[in-house]
Amino acid sequence: MIDSLLKFRGEFPILSSTTYLVSNSLGAMPRAVPERLAEYVDEWAELGVRAWARGWWEMPVTVGDEIATLLGAGSGEVAMVANVTSAQAAVISALDYTPPRDTIVMTALDFPSVRYVYDRLATRLGARIKVVESDDGIAVDAQRVIDAIDERTRLVSISHVLFRSAYVMDVDAICRAARERGALVSLDAFHAVGVMPVDVRRSGADFVTGGVLKWLCGGPGACFLYVAPSVRNGLEPALTGWQAHARPFAFEPEMEYAEGVFRWLNGTPVIPALYAAIEGPRIVKRAGIAAIRAKSARQTARLIQLADDRGFRVHASRDPERRGGTVAIRVPHAYEVSKALLARDILVDYRPDAGIRIAPHFYTSDDELELAVAAMDEILEREEWKKFAGERTVVT
Ligand SMILES: Cc1ncc(COP(=O)(O)O)c(C=O)c1O
Repeated sequence: MIDSLLKFRGEFPILSSTTYLVSNSLGAMPRAVPERLAEYVDEWAELGVRAWARGWWEMPVTVGDEIATLLGAGSGEVAMVANVTSAQAAVISALDYTPPRDTIVMTALDFPSVRYVYDRLATRLGARIKVVESDDGIAVDAQRVIDAIDERTRLVSISHVLFRSAYVMDVDAICRAARERGALVSLDAFHAVGVMPVDVRRSGADFVTGGVLKWLCGGPGACFLYVAPSVRNGLEPALTGWQAHARPFAFEPEMEYAEGVFRWLNGTPVIPALYAAIEGPRIVKRAGIAAIRAKSARQTARLIQLADDRGFRVHASRDPERRGGTVAIRVPHAYEVSKALLARDILVDYRPDAGIRIAPHFYTSDDELELAVAAMDEILEREEWKKFAGERTVVT
């Protein structure tokens, strides 16, 4: 079988020196990123402060436009922000939790950083958080989420794809139920955008957050917030700043919100991160999301097969419809095995309660999957993992 997506391998230098299976954490850097960063440096050096008027100020939205098509969104509907946690904080800060609409529905498997800001900020603003549990740590039953939405629900804030297990939530059904009951929906689509189709027009989600550093190969510091045109101008995020002002350079003492997605920004944007962010999403768009998703489904199925063949436990859905781009494998001594894989330049990550997460992307060859799982076997067999016992450091 010819894998036409492998033609993109040459765009990513790290693929020639490592087995790169960690695009669910940090996507490989495109070869052209240094050129984009050099552009930033040259503009800073040559234009100095004039660079703000030559495009820097608008970059959160011009770069957001590059992402918009990957979400099925239109131009001017996506703003770049520094991280997902702050994007979700902007959403929280824009809503009113006066009873009876005082409840936010979340799940037990949402990303902890997002949970922290809901638990701390939203509750301080008067919200009550209702958490929908998971039976197996892999999936959250969409029907349970739907049943949790009622006339007290202000917001349903859930992951599109769960970070530990890559389980794909039925977001269309959840958004429909929320709409019927008068609640808004905020989707954390970090593990969806770039590896599977996301369509805000179809789902009708009100807010979508994600970032370019994982599946979009755009580096850290560039995350995004989509706000549906239907709610965009009617809300006033309290997490705000001068980028959100109607006349930022008038330096007026009172806040007057801009119209459009600028309204959702706050302070000075992180310009270098936005330059670094441009190339990855462009390559992903050239590769095509439908082709990426088809390959991902095939390769994650192959990974499950390889794990089954060795009797390794799999922490992922076996239903391809509900399975995102990552397969977590729960081998014994998984943390130490993951370190041994890294020492062999097989780049993966480890998550407690999930195991070793393996994330093929459009540039991954089938041979690399075989190599990684065979290496896990060998590391266990030869007890190579013992070299890393007791050495708990930050695992990216
Ligand atoms: C689903 C999900 N949401 C959020 C984050 C991180 O958010 P932030 O950009 O605030 O660091 C991650 C990071 O891995 C994630 O997997």
